[in-house]
Amino acid sequence: MKQIDLSVSINKIKLSSCIMNASGVLCSTDKELSNLLDSFSGAVVTKSCTRKPRKGNFEPRYFEWNMGSINSMGLPNLGIDFYLNFLEKKETKKPIFLSISGLSAEENYFLIKKANHYSKITALELNLSCPNLIEEEDLISYNFSRISYLLENIFKFNKKPLGIKLPPYFEDLSIQKMALILNQFPIDFVTCINSLPNGMVVDTKTESVVIQPKKGFGGIGGSIIKPFALANIRKFYTYLRKDISIIGCGGISTGKDIFEHILCGASAVQIGTQLMKEGVFVFERLEKEFSFFLRKKNYSSIDSFKGNLKNFQ
Ligand code: SIN
Repeated sequence: MKQIDLSVSINKIKLSSCIMNASGVLCSTDKELSNLLDSFSGAVVTKSCTRKPRKGNFEPRYFEWNMGSINSMGLPNLGIDFYLNFLEKKETKKPIFLSISGLSAEENYFLIKKANHYSKITALELNLSCPNLIEEEDLISYNFSRISYLLENIFKFNKKPLGIKLPPYFEDLSIQKMALILNQFPIDFVTCINSLPNGMVVDTKTESVVIQPKKGFGGIGGSIIKPFALANIRKFYTYLRKDISIIGCGGISTGKDIFEHILCGASAVQIGTQLMKEGVFVFERLEKEFSFFLRKKNYSSIDSFKGNLKNFQ
């Protein structure tokens, strides 16, 4: 049988498989991270951390249905020291992406400077797109001058490979503007997309919202957001420098979904809602399904079709 090579590089970071977890899902505690390290995933991404541990928003704060999920977790995490200490103790060949999400620019500088000293951290994923913070009035990633200022400061001192987790953008011009900013900095990757902000799910039986924080508004993930993920990946693939890799995230539950993300231009993919539904066994299943799909299509590696989406002539 033809050998399928699912290994990829995110800029200079080598992954044995292009499939990994999305930050936020089953990657907060010692046990969850240990399970991910032992799983079939090609890398491990930690829960976005802050300087101090956070309890996050009130429960219920996560709900899923057949087409997706809504969450307003509010960055519950054990604080950067927990993640750094945990990773220092672990022997692993998997690349480790430390996700950070400071509540201010200064907190992000602090977190990045601290993580820079730890050799077990392969790369940083700077999460600028969490839509669930009670403290934040606007999403920094929709504010281009704030982002530009933040990145200018970060790249005065950062030494680790660094990527940015982006929210979905809904206008071509926004993606062009964002890409123009990102192209000015030595960024290694972007992760597109975080959950769709300000969604709402209604329970008709109780005639109420399904999560408590923010009067029921939260980030939407899962199958229902796949078209937005694909569109953002495709546009960023068109506008970003070619050495900035794209990690696709949003709506992956089958091997065929992974194919679609990579055909649009992603180099690797992250699994969120489906990981929550299925647990870490999802990685082995997706790897099998994706390999089977590629074999049928007669592709033997990611690079043989990445970004090759066709338009109608
Ligand atoms: C959360 O903790 O609220 C989710 C994180 C995110 O969407 O970035």
